[in-house]
Amino acid sequence: MTMPAVTMEIGVALRPSGAGTAFGEPPRRLRCCDASACRNAGGIALRQALLAARAAAGLGEDTLAIRAVGCLRLCGRGPLVAADGPAGSRLWGGVPPPLAEPLLAAALEAAEADPLAPFSLDLNHPFFRLQKPVVLERCGLVDPDSLDDALAQGAYAQLRRCVQHLKPEEVRAEVRRSGLRGRGGAGYPTGLKWDTVALQPSGPRQVVANGDEGDPGAFMDRTVLESDPHRLLEGLAIAAWAVEALNGYLYVRAEYPLAIARLQRALEQVEAWGGFGPALCGTPGPCGSSCGWGPAPTCAARKRP
Ligand SMILES: Cc1cc2nc3c(=O)[nH]c(=O)nc-3n(C[C@H](O)[C@H](O)[C@H](O)COP(=O)(O)O)c2cc1C
Ligand code: FES
Repeated sequence: MTMPAVTMEIGVALRPSGAGTAFGEPPRRLRCCDASACRNAGGIALRQALLAARAAAGLGEDTLAIRAVGCLRLCGRGPLVAADGPAGSRLWGGVPPPLAEPLLAAALEAAEADPLAPFSLDLNHPFFRLQKPVVLERCGLVDPDSLDDALAQGAYAQLRRCVQHLKPEEVRAEVRRSGLRGRGGAGYPTGLKWDTVALQPSGPRQVVANGDEGDPGAFMDRTVLESDPHRLLEGLAIAAWAVEALNGYLYVRAEYPLAIARLQRALEQVEAWGGFGPALCGTPGPCGSSCGWGPAPTCAARKRP
């Protein structure tokens, strides 16, 4: 497949590491949660009202960006909207669309936002302050539908590091040392699991990511899938590299239509970049020809019939 010319500029677009705002963002921005719980609570209508209020004020993206993002972590108070500006970040929950105008003014720090006081949420509350998001570090910051935004916030940097600088056994050793354990219920040591696969006699190997969760109210898989789908794809690709698998499969339950849509879009975006090939991974390093990393792994989202 011929790669679009833009893919060659990937290195320029990348941030050094970690999460943050995408390059080129204006200094003020509204992040509107567009994950399932907030959608169900009217998040789309609120975002549209904010866009309309911004247009009515004669303002555009250059003054105040309005972004759809994933989960902002207090799903029961949705729809959540966060404002970022020079004075820091603020968060509101449950603002009705008719209050879009004062919300816009508050985001621009142009007016006291008394009507918003009942909806204001305290980001210094221990619920937020004591959290250190790791898996979810980009949730609520990144646009889940945008590979460019994910790349600008560090996506695929670790995959590139693995493919360019680490042999599969070195990746597995690092994962073993890290103490990483599975999140799927058993807390099984991930390094041990990957070693078990890698040490099997050579043959076609597959990596399967299980995105099903049956425990009532447990939405940890859904949150990642809806809010930062490229994180899952990067993890899958790193696992494939570490165990020398050429194919990856994703299983997602049919009850998660938004997660499936976001994942499929993310897969299409990766495919448009040539899969997990040179554009996303960089030129394969010392392992390139010897460890079985052939053409890009293929991934498929499957759902229950
Ligand atoms: C307590 C517990 C709960 C689980 N719940 C589910 C579930 O709801 N749906 C599912 O498909 N698998 C479930 N599993 C199976 C795990 O998803 C499966 O073992 C997976 O391979 C674990 O991957 P991990 O080692 O990366 O965590 C559960 C396993 C355990 C031990
Ligand atoms: S779904 Fe909006 S805060 Fe979690």
